[in-house]
Amino acid sequence: DGYTVAILGATGAVGTRLIQQLEQSTIPVNKIKLLASYRSAGKKLQFKGQDVTVEEAKPESFEGVDIVLASAGGSVSKKLLPEAVKRGAVCVDNTSAFRMEEDVPLVVPEVNEAALYNHHGIIANPNCSTIQMMVALEPIRKAFGLKQIIVSTYQAASGAGQSALNELYSEAQDYLDGKDMHADIFPTKGDEKHYPLAFNLLPQIDVLEDNLYSHEEWKMIHETKKIMLGDMDSPEIKVTATCVRVPVPISHGESIYIEVEDKSATTEKIQELIRQAQGAVLEDDPKHQIYPQPINAVGKRDTYVGRIRPDLENEGAFNMWVVSDNLLKGAAWNTVQIAERLVADNLVHN
Ligand code: A2P
Repeated sequence: DGYTVAILGATGAVGTRLIQQLEQSTIPVNKIKLLASYRSAGKKLQFKGQDVTVEEAKPESFEGVDIVLASAGGSVSKKLLPEAVKRGAVCVDNTSAFRMEEDVPLVVPEVNEAALYNHHGIIANPNCSTIQMMVALEPIRKAFGLKQIIVSTYQAASGAGQSALNELYSEAQDYLDGKDMHADIFPTKGDEKHYPLAFNLLPQIDVLEDNLYSHEEWKMIHETKKIMLGDMDSPEIKVTATCVRVPVPISHGESIYIEVEDKSATTEKIQELIRQAQGAVLEDDPKHQIYPQPINAVGKRDTYVGRIRPDLENEGAFNMWVVSDNLLKGAAWNTVQIAERLVADNLVHN
């Protein structure tokens, strides 16, 4: 008894957190396989105090594996997860490779755990910015209905991976040393031009599309609809997003404007919903200057909500500020949490 679990991308910013979150989880782990690129093969990492040698990820690596937790990039997932499924594993994928496929559940356990029952071997973990917004808004949607969401994000550097986070630190060092900053990664590896993030803001996350939105903004719009309404193109809730990379190492912030259907909603009622909500913590005491901040969310599994206030011009509209560790609830914790639910609901099969 117990499961054989493979972590794909184990050496990365999310992968190292996947190891920690799995160590702390309720999942009985019999055997752990740590997989990464050929560059990391032979490197030693620890799981529950034991040395584990990292292996190069290949289709055969998934022989005998029950659960795969993947965070090695979209192209790696596209190539290797079908191979893992073929060999009988259930995969929870942190990349965007399969999120919009009809038979792939896109899950935030606090919101749509039941979607797990429809899996065919692959379950997708949503985008980090989408996840924390769902934790904050689903209780409000359930109680009062949602007509519209307008979100602006303040996204941490680590969302682009460990090498991107290192780039922010070296730029900051160069800036303070009076040297030129050198950029190779931000705003996104996959585009032509690169700009420094240190002491700057970049209103581009992922590529800019022909419709003038970034791919990150597109993800927030359509993932929200798929998670809340089960239909990535549902017109029922209007969603728009502006995604901005900020020179913060870890934890995303979001300024969110919502319009609710039920006009009986008040700030106090929304605060109470957040207080009761699973995975959410209310940090909202303006008199004492209490509100969520990225540095306080680092290393925590919860999503912090504050600055809740009624819009002064539009009835039934509210503004709020939401912060969460993008590497934990935005990635590793949500992934392990999904795997815990798969185990608890006896869904580790395909
Ligand atoms: P490696 O460290 O060997 O390059 P991050 O998101 O922090 O950039 O991490 C990406 C993760 O994905 C790392 O663990 C990286 O391993 C892994 N990875 C990158 N390319 C591949 C690949 N082709 N096959 C397997 N793992 C990969």
